[in-house]
Amino acid sequence: MSYQNLKLETREGVAVLTVNRPDKLNALNDATVAELDAAFAALGADGSVRGVILTGAGEKAFVAGADIAELSTQSPIQGTERSVRGQRVLDRIERLGKPVVAAVNGFALGGGCELAMACHVRVASENARLGTPEVKLGIMCGYAGTQRLPRLVGRGRALEMLLTGEMVDAQEAWRIGLVNKVVPREQLLAEAEGLLRKMLANGPLSLRFTLEAVHQGLEMPFDEAQTHEATLFGLICTSEDMKEGTAAFLAKRAPQFKGR
Ligand code: COA
Repeated sequence: MSYQNLKLETREGVAVLTVNRPDKLNALNDATVAELDAAFAALGADGSVRGVILTGAGEKAFVAGADIAELSTQSPIQGTERSVRGQRVLDRIERLGKPVVAAVNGFALGGGCELAMACHVRVASENARLGTPEVKLGIMCGYAGTQRLPRLVGRGRALEMLLTGEMVDAQEAWRIGLVNKVVPREQLLAEAEGLLRKMLANGPLSLRFTLEAVHQGLEMPFDEAQTHEATLFGLICTSEDMKEGTAAFLAKRAPQFKGR
């Protein structure tokens, strides 16, 4: 599939998807959101893709937010529809069933910060700056930032960011748990890929079920979440990968996982 506002490269099971509107700091206009939806649907369905790195084109930005030019003329109905569309795309990323690493290479603001938070882990370059400046525009987060940010950094820090609209630099983002790791700019993609490949060395079903147990479980009462985890644990015990992983350990050899 070819895209106007995205670049896609795939190598040895890893897809690198780049939001590609550098002249607008990769701002998410409606066309780009639709392409992200299509791209993640395709990546989710493609069995040869085992994990994804999401990044932004150019020197300055991961994604500098939703496209303010489009937002400036929206009606209330269009605003709600735009918010719901964005939320669904980000949900699709979070529920992809394979790990998605955000390589945050500069500004990740508003919808860009929300997009990074929908990825499973975030690696940031030293020049990255993250924030939710929507309140400065007289609007508010619309791609679930009011929900994912407090879940990631806690209610107090999230409300400080959401209500001031001020950005945090990469070190502060790391300190509060908004990003997992900060690395020099020139090493960003290699570090993101290294982290992803560490995950991909493990059983694909283990990754899928762990993602599901964490994301669904966090929305459930604790007891229900434990029951859900136990059910997934039972299910994974039916897999060839469980037999292979445990047998390989006992035989002191490397496992060969097949994802079944
Ligand atoms: N939507 C639409 N266009 C955007 C954009 C956005 N979210 N963010 C940046 N751009 C555009 C600018 O309008 C400018 O376009 P132009 O060259 O046609 O005038 C271009 O990208 C470069 O941005 P510029 O503001 O000149 O870069 P800068 O280095 O001076 O500032 C930022 C960088 C990120 C601080 C600044 O662009 C900014 O505040 N962007 C908006 C962030 C935001 O509020 N996001 C939440 C949106 S809901």
